[in-house]
Amino acid sequence: MDKSFWDSRYAEEGFAYGISPNVFLASFIDNFKPGNKVLVIGDGEGRNGVWLAEQGCAVTSVDSSLVGVEKAKKLAIGKGVEIEAVCADLNEWDWPQSEFDFVVIIYVHFPPSVRELLHQRVIAALKPGGQLIMESFTPDQLNYDSGGPPVVEMLYTVEMIKSDFKLLEIQQIDECVTELNEGKYHCGEGAVVRLVAKK
Ligand SMILES: C[S@@+](CC[C@H](N)C(=O)[O-])C[C@H]1O[C@@H](n2cnc3c(N)ncnc32)[C@H](O)[C@@H]1O
Repeated sequence: MDKSFWDSRYAEEGFAYGISPNVFLASFIDNFKPGNKVLVIGDGEGRNGVWLAEQGCAVTSVDSSLVGVEKAKKLAIGKGVEIEAVCADLNEWDWPQSEFDFVVIIYVHFPPSVRELLHQRVIAALKPGGQLIMESFTPDQLNYDSGGPPVVEMLYTVEMIKSDFKLLEIQQIDECVTELNEGKYHCGEGAVVRLVAKK
């Protein structure tokens, strides 16, 4: 799943994962205050970043797909909000330090060779007291056909997440099967891990 994969997926008509925010993220609506600085990594076509901007947050949305980033910018304009939409590979991005009240990671699966390092960058990007909100597919997702990486190496267990984010205070970590209704590529039952953690 390299950049060209995502470019061609996002070049399709409509929005691959819809324009509504991820349900787990949206459940924290009361936590987001106007002016909060939020980093959304792997934001794709921007559904989550734009929704956070609609809550009044100052959103930095990063994705390596230029097609996705351009759609995110258009979605923001259509909703009458602003986001800082950055086209960058997170492996090469100059990550800000201690800058964000929240980092949001929704279905962004890194290969094992870089996962731990990039998750350390996430920790560094949070302000002290800042929170990480994350939802990812678990290896159990291989038993469902509702999307996600098709190889076990790219899927995350609770243990991996706990280990990667051990420097944070884990406030919530759950593994569950949930009903996904996110555009045509996340549809049906899915096996996910959900994390909230504080720096
Ligand atoms: C399954 S999509 C999820 C998109 C979005 N988070 C959502 O829930 O609608 C995964 C996204 O992660 C992005 N991504 C994966 N690896 C990346 C990297 N190294 N740097 C930047 N973006 C990356 C892809 O371009 C893709 O848009």
